[in-house]
Amino acid sequence: MSIKINYSNKASSKISANLVLFSNEKFNINGLKKYLSSSEFSYINDLLKTSDLKKNLFVFKLTSKKKIVLVSIKNNLKISDIENLGAEFYGCINHGKNSEYFLISDSIANNHDNFLGHFLHGLKLKSYEFKKYKTKKETRVISIHVLGNKNKPSHQKQLKFKALEEGTFYARDLVSEPGNVLHPDEYAKRISSLRKDGLKINVYDQKKLKKLGMHALLGVGQGSIRGSYLVTMEWNGAKNNSKPLAFVGKGVCFDTGGYSLKPAKFMEDMTYDMAGSATVVGLMKSLALRKAKINAVGVVGLVENMVSGNAQRPGDIVKSYSGKTIEILNTDAEGRLVLADALTFTEKKFKPKFIVDLATLTGAIIVCLGSEYAGLFSNDDKLSKQIFNAGEKVEEKVWRMPLHKNYDKLMNSKNADVQNINYVGGAGSTTAAQFLQRFILNKTPWAHLDIAGMAFSKYGGALNSGGATGFGVRLLNQLIEEHYE
Ligand code: BES
Ligand code: MN
Ligand code: ZN
Repeated sequence: MSIKINYSNKASSKISANLVLFSNEKFNINGLKKYLSSSEFSYINDLLKTSDLKKNLFVFKLTSKKKIVLVSIKNNLKISDIENLGAEFYGCINHGKNSEYFLISDSIANNHDNFLGHFLHGLKLKSYEFKKYKTKKETRVISIHVLGNKNKPSHQKQLKFKALEEGTFYARDLVSEPGNVLHPDEYAKRISSLRKDGLKINVYDQKKLKKLGMHALLGVGQGSIRGSYLVTMEWNGAKNNSKPLAFVGKGVCFDTGGYSLKPAKFMEDMTYDMAGSATVVGLMKSLALRKAKINAVGVVGLVENMVSGNAQRPGDIVKSYSGKTIEILNTDAEGRLVLADALTFTEKKFKPKFIVDLATLTGAIIVCLGSEYAGLFSNDDKLSKQIFNAGEKVEEKVWRMPLHKNYDKLMNSKNADVQNINYVGGAGSTTAAQFLQRFILNKTPWAHLDIAGMAFSKYGGALNSGGATGFGVRLLNQLIEEHYE
């Protein structure tokens, strides 16, 4: 299924095809008379008298060829409400057939906050599906012709929405790919293909990583027949040489747990253990597509956590890129090992204004927050507030969780500088974040988003129909647009 949207300035009066009209909060349709025949008007008006006007929209089936979708614009809608309304509208028009709708933009009485742009953005985001591996191809198209000359998003706004949609969909595609297809070798290739969008890509393969001393990352991938990689993506859109904003992602293409093996049930979910990195890749693509006027860098660690004669053992001690030694007490706490090297490297090489990392890091964050909020851990109040507020705006919500030196102590190791799990038990997401913080060496403002509960939605959410969500692309884009551009 694909959605096609086109715009035409043609004035519209009576149209004998499916119509989409907008009314005020109370479904008062007096202002819509010019788009309706008198019989249509009285038919709808009568039905509305006995309807629940708290609803957001109605579909009136007039004939076999003509439906009218009436969308009510409630008072005081937030931007996320408008996007959710667009998604709800998608639910009404997605009927398993090819179809065409004429949306009358002039019928929007109040175009605050670029109503139509956000409405269609919500619709688009909700319509995504991943059907690559269905042999029977769907060719269905839903066309939406936007008619009229008022209330349309400017060309520039349209490009922005498109860039965000493409970045989000790119992230969703990556997360949806199974582990046998998107292993680290393939993933590194796909990221390299983004050079065509104007990103500067650097791929560090095993040989280079060894030279750099990234043994924390390499240890996780050493049981896999695939390579391990660190990939950097740079976007230089600012006119000056200002410090870049840095985004770091966990890219564990599949997480068996290693010798600390996961149980069989739901192990298949661990194909989305690279979602943090996918968000970083999708975000960088969006920034390039919309030519954001900032400098940014994305850094992802790509590995596969497998069991083999050469895999890492519990009890192994490795030396990280920072120079700190790590005792691996549990090979299933692997994401933090990958991020440890990626964080230190990012801080040292790019000297960024801040670092935000994203990772499906702990099951414990799902116990805390379910699939409603991502966990936010940070050493910086200002950055935390900015991320929190951006999340509320685009409805990719985060909730701040504590860091504290007493949690940090739990990660001290008897045999090395630090151990990768806390043996006391409890606070699993915080102690993981404390581990990460040990690899930020120069007090760079840093925020860690644990997105284990957000990256994949079994039943679908407001702006996705189930499966990979692309969580974080719109959140971080909002953060950038609002505060750094
Ligand atoms: N990738 C998992 C975390 C995860 C769990 C993501 C469920 C999404 C859904 C991570 O690598 C992991 O295995 N974490 C362990 C840490 C433990 C060994 C300290 C966990 O959460 O159990
Ligand atoms: Mn794991
Ligand atoms: Zn993992």
